[in-house]
Amino acid sequence: MSAFSLPRHVAIIMDGNGRWAKNRFMPRAEGHRQGVLALNRVVEHAAEVGIERLTVFAFSSENWRRPGAEVKMLMELFAQSLSRWVKPLNEAGVRLRVIGDLTAFSDKLREAIEFCEKETSHGTRMELNIAANYGGQWDICQAAQKAQVAGETVTPETMKKYLTTADVDLLIRTGGECRISNFLLWQSAYAEIYFDSALWPDYSAKELDAALSWYETRERRFGRTSEQLTSKAS
Ligand code: FPP
Repeated sequence: MSAFSLPRHVAIIMDGNGRWAKNRFMPRAEGHRQGVLALNRVVEHAAEVGIERLTVFAFSSENWRRPGAEVKMLMELFAQSLSRWVKPLNEAGVRLRVIGDLTAFSDKLREAIEFCEKETSHGTRMELNIAANYGGQWDICQAAQKAQVAGETVTPETMKKYLTTADVDLLIRTGGECRISNFLLWQSAYAEIYFDSALWPDYSAKELDAALSWYETRERRFGRTSEQLTSKAS
């Protein structure tokens, strides 16, 4: 794949863990555990092919509505994963950041986040953003509030400075649903959106490559006409 058509920022809504487990008569928790393994595969491959930034939706601000036991399990899995990720992420040159409203998390989880962010902060190959207690509407509001506090007029340019992450080139959603579910609303304004019926625990390098090949065929016009793009290229 040519570097020219490789998306710089890929975002993924990792959906289908529950259905994957249900199909196998397993508890939903097993689906989430397998989901972490799929995430590990995808991070490794994304860094290998040269994606600069990968943002994944691990826990939405609406996911608190799930049964208490599932929420607790996801929080424990998150904390455990963070400590397990440090070594492989460092080896792969991946810098981890967690984006979202972290005030709702326990001290222990916040400490695990801080530790992993600090330990991987020198990675230069790829940035991995884990969106946790994240909502696109929250992101826009917090950015506007920060701009206001700084005494700046709220414009698209000032918002860019305060949003948790940059514009998305390719947004992937697995699990067959076709919606954005309050993920990176502002940042996906011009994203190419790819819906995949694969359930997240089945996702691997092969599925990511298919999405990247599809992206390569897209003509990114950003409001211009196709003819304008052709004449600019020639
Ligand atoms: C959606 O599947 C998935 C989630 C709400 C959680 C995503 C979490 C992971 C992929 C594991 C990695 C995350 C952490 C915390 C380290 P679903 O449960 O909505 O699946 P369903 O639509 O089939 O029920």
